Amino acid sequence: MTDAATTAAPLLEVRGLETGYGDLKVVRDVSLQVRPGEITVLLGRNGAGKTTTLRALTGLNKVFAGEVRYEGADIAKTSPHRRVAGGIAYVQEGKRVFRSQTVEQNLLLGAYSGGRRRSRLKQDVERIYETFPVLGDKRKLPASSMSGGQQQMLAIGQALMAQPKLLFLDEPSGGLAPVIVREVMQRVHELKATGIGILLVEQAVEASFAVADHVVVLDTGRTVLSERASEVIDLTVLQNAYFGKERSAN
Ligand SMILES: Nc1ncnc2c1ncn2[C@@H]1O[C@H](COP(=O)(O)OP(=O)(O)O)[C@@H](O)[C@H]1O
Ligand SMILES: [Mg+2]
Repeated sequence: MTDAATTAAPLLEVRGLETGYGDLKVVRDVSLQVRPGEITVLLGRNGAGKTTTLRALTGLNKVFAGEVRYEGADIAKTSPHRRVAGGIAYVQEGKRVFRSQTVEQNLLLGAYSGGRRRSRLKQDVERIYETFPVLGDKRKLPASSMSGGQQQMLAIGQALMAQPKLLFLDEPSGGLAPVIVREVMQRVHELKATGIGILLVEQAVEASFAVADHVVVLDTGRTVLSERASEVIDLTVLQNAYFGKERSAN
């Protein structure tokens, strides 16, 4: 972690976010930041409000109250497609790829709305293969021929085709074996070198903490811990926050 990274202006700044579904408030007080070239990990138990938070940040759910700033501008009321056009990409929880299409076709679908020339698209696809070599090796094969971890990398690659500045990943480890989870995390970690900011939602505490610059823990719709990863010396502090007050004595 360089000084430059810690002092860079945040790409995304969320303060006191309240959101939910219709009139139902499920997120009551969430604050977090994502800086360029850094990974903020958003942890919390099942039902804590992680996905709902991401849905509000992408514009799929309404922001009831609080501040959502992207590159300094208030985007709380900006439409989802304008957020995408502005450089925000979102890989949803349990994201499926098009299994009967080839790996390359899946990547090209990710660039569909970009209006880019064919030569440019080719370059962009090659860039994704540099990041995820396994996708290059299997470019002509149907996505269904790939393992769960590889399909998750394909889903991330598809989102990267839009050349986002800010990437939201919702539980990329879901359903994967621990050794594959570490590999996916490693690839996500490598993306930081491109300068992209990443908000990584996870339940896999240790694997995601290993790549975190900043950690935020949600419990029942509230931020209960927010620290730079370098300041979290004892993982039990994180785990106690994660499991909530009623289990913190364990
Ligand atoms: N479509 C929905 N309508 C109403 N409530 C929902 C909906 N989706 C999720 N919820 C509720 O919102 C809360 C937070 O869910 P979610 O954000 O999916 O949690 P997480 O991603 O942390 O597991 C849960 O209590 C869940 O039941
Ligand atoms: Mg979720």
